[in-house]
Amino acid sequence: MNPVESVAGGDEIAAFYERHPYPPPVDDLAATRRDWTDDRRRVEALRVWPDGSVGEQRTILVAGCGTSQAAKYAVRYPRAGIVGIDVSERSIAETRRLVDHHGLTNVELRRLPIEEVGQLGETFDHVVSTGVLHHLADPGAGLAALGSVIAPGGALEAMVYAPYGRTGVYMLQEYCRLLGVQPTRRDVGDLVEALRELPLGHPLGHLLRSTPDFADDDALADALLNPRDRAYAVRDVMGLLDQAGLRFSRWIRQAPYLPTCGLMGPGRHRCSTGSLLSAVVSSLPGRPRKERSMAPPGRSGRSSVGGLFGVVVEGGAHGHCVADE
Ligand SMILES: C[S@@+](CC[C@H](N)C(=O)[O-])C[C@H]1O[C@@H](n2cnc3c(N)ncnc32)[C@H](O)[C@@H]1O
Repeated sequence: MNPVESVAGGDEIAAFYERHPYPPPVDDLAATRRDWTDDRRRVEALRVWPDGSVGEQRTILVAGCGTSQAAKYAVRYPRAGIVGIDVSERSIAETRRLVDHHGLTNVELRRLPIEEVGQLGETFDHVVSTGVLHHLADPGAGLAALGSVIAPGGALEAMVYAPYGRTGVYMLQEYCRLLGVQPTRRDVGDLVEALRELPLGHPLGHLLRSTPDFADDDALADALLNPRDRAYAVRDVMGLLDQAGLRFSRWIRQAPYLPTCGLMGPGRHRCSTGSLLSAVVSSLPGRPRKERSMAPPGRSGRSSVGGLFGVVVEGGAHGHCVADE
């Protein structure tokens, strides 16, 4: 039995992403190429390796790469070697189309479950997995598998859902379950109509208005009809890391919990996660340490208010801890 069948073949998640590949496929990565300058690459590297220990020729694993993420990394980091894995054949095919279209020679693609990543027989300086672990049957085992392929001095960067920003999402997931809404074209069409009738002020309202995903049927299915997703508050993330034998390094997206983050500061009292994020991003080039200084100490068990968050962890003997949340 091939590894996809043995781990994910009977798994409803693999079947779901075969029908609803995510993110919605794109045709061209010209904007990614334009946006990723040498300055940006340098700053992003310092964000993960503040001591500059890992350079541009690094190896990157994009685990659960979906339809475009591995190709995007290949464009962002032309001097790096990228490996993209996913259980969805369709997602791999979409990525391959982009790779061919752009003549990218620094990326390899494999249909392989995260749980079996050891089969690659390689370690990576940078392991990236965004929006995937929370769909696995056993996220702890998946994270441990990814941890086992971090090269010495390397880092893992992950994003999982957080509960509070997704409150409205889980309400609507429950609604769909109760009504037996299926991820078919007809049911998704009906669901789109139902969402139009949501009262103003419904907890899902802000996401409906601000998230492009709700404008695409497959992405809508991903959010509301996904057969398995769970959300992690900060303490849950820490538990997951402990279970996988990984050490926390820093948050990537800083939510404004405390006055030091701008939550209550003069002229900043309406600061949202989103606006803080853009402040951080625009301050990045040439000022990476400034971003760090905005952050209070981490590991306090505060819960994330954002719908999504990222975390960098390091494995192996060379790990150090920079807790920035
Ligand atoms: C929400 S999409 C995220 C795609 C991509 N990481 C991104 O951020 O654009 C989740 C992806 O994880 C893949 N996936 C789910 N379970 C997996 C597993 N056990 N191993 C590898 N990939 C998996 C799905 O096929 C899907 O492409």
